[in-house]
Amino acid sequence: MFDDKVSKKLYDRAGERLATGVSTVFRRSVTPTPLYMTHGDGPYLFDVDGHKLLDYGLAWGPLILGNNHPKLNEAITAQLGRGYTFGYQHEGEILLAELMCKVVPGVEQVLFSNTGSEAVQAALRIARAYTGREKIVRFEGHYHGWMNNVLVKADDDAPTCGGSAPTVGGQPADELANTLSLTWNDIEAVRKAFDAHPDQIACVITEPLNINNGSCMPDDGYLQGLVDLCHEHGALCIFDEVVTGFRIALGGAREYCGVQPDMSTYAKAMAGGFSMAGIGGRRDIFDTLSDGRTTHAGTYNGNPICLTAAFMTISTLSEPGTYDRMNRHGHAIREALERAATDNGHQLITCGAGTAFSAHFDLDAPPRNHLDVVQANVAKNDAFRALMLEQGVACLPAGRWYIGAVHTDDELDITLPAIEQAMKSI
Ligand SMILES: Cc1ncc(COP(=O)(O)O)c(C=O)c1O
Repeated sequence: MFDDKVSKKLYDRAGERLATGVSTVFRRSVTPTPLYMTHGDGPYLFDVDGHKLLDYGLAWGPLILGNNHPKLNEAITAQLGRGYTFGYQHEGEILLAELMCKVVPGVEQVLFSNTGSEAVQAALRIARAYTGREKIVRFEGHYHGWMNNVLVKADDDAPTCGGSAPTVGGQPADELANTLSLTWNDIEAVRKAFDAHPDQIACVITEPLNINNGSCMPDDGYLQGLVDLCHEHGALCIFDEVVTGFRIALGGAREYCGVQPDMSTYAKAMAGGFSMAGIGGRRDIFDTLSDGRTTHAGTYNGNPICLTAAFMTISTLSEPGTYDRMNRHGHAIREALERAATDNGHQLITCGAGTAFSAHFDLDAPPRNHLDVVQANVAKNDAFRALMLEQGVACLPAGRWYIGAVHTDDELDITLPAIEQAMKSI
């Protein structure tokens, strides 16, 4: 059994003074108990019960270079000596904006924010200001942050067109009045929504690869179909690349899928673990900010510490061969999962991209949307995850894996036998 005595004790103590005992609700669902870490180094985390854990959660995505990365440490330490934040402009903002426009296809300008949730809100507001319309389309099972207008219940039997319900107490239904929630990978559902709400839909927002929902992949032509439909109806298409940006390729899904939306949102892997987000898009869309049609603000936007982290992360990821190496690592894990499952009489399917994928037990075919993902055998995955943890490999819930540039062949030597053993023991 995994020994989490000290973590449990700290969690109990935390509950006394820290509301809920954790700082984001998702960490509560991590079994056996929310683990307390003392430090991290490369792809390893060290917990208070004395474990050294090989980490494939990467802080739910951001730690693409791991912890304690020498180049990141050096750059950030140097910036600390020059100032934490100014409340004025500085050249770092220009440097990062130029770099992002260079490496992300089709991005002409960027805007900085602090979290993925904020970036999504800014993109939605800009889309509404640009089109003069209020409705937005999002998809069941897609996560766009915790704000009222995008947090929507995805029932197994949700209607395929329209229909959305608050997910949490305190979330007014009114705030979802302009949010249409559709089934993903169904272009006809989007066409119907445009027909049912002529000249009212400002934008369609989608995770280009639905990593938050079992890493469902878009059907061939689906993403381009979304962009084309949006344009046909005078709306904008937004890719929420908070997970996929700088992760599945340097240019994110725009590069990986070869499709250019009107705007994309970035966070997580963009800044290697620092709180930094961005929106990239066409210049004429951002004119809504310069000509006063709308506004965007934030005390910490473009602060030099996080900018430095982002600039150094993206520069490091730009080194030749980085994505090939990460993708090979991911591929080796997927192969091992599938092989070990078959050898031990389990049915398992993996889906997703090189550095962000999910493994599902007891599905007959790769899931295409939320309705498929909920059919997977979650209990079996939880058992697998617990067995991996006992062997010192920490994976995310729901079978999700994130690969970083810090995962090398040394880590594969730990991971592959652990997978074999876990599949045997389920
Ligand atoms: C696709 C996507 N969009 C937005 C968000 C919200 O980002 P943040 O947690 O930084 O607010 C997340 C977070 O997981 C995400 O996965």
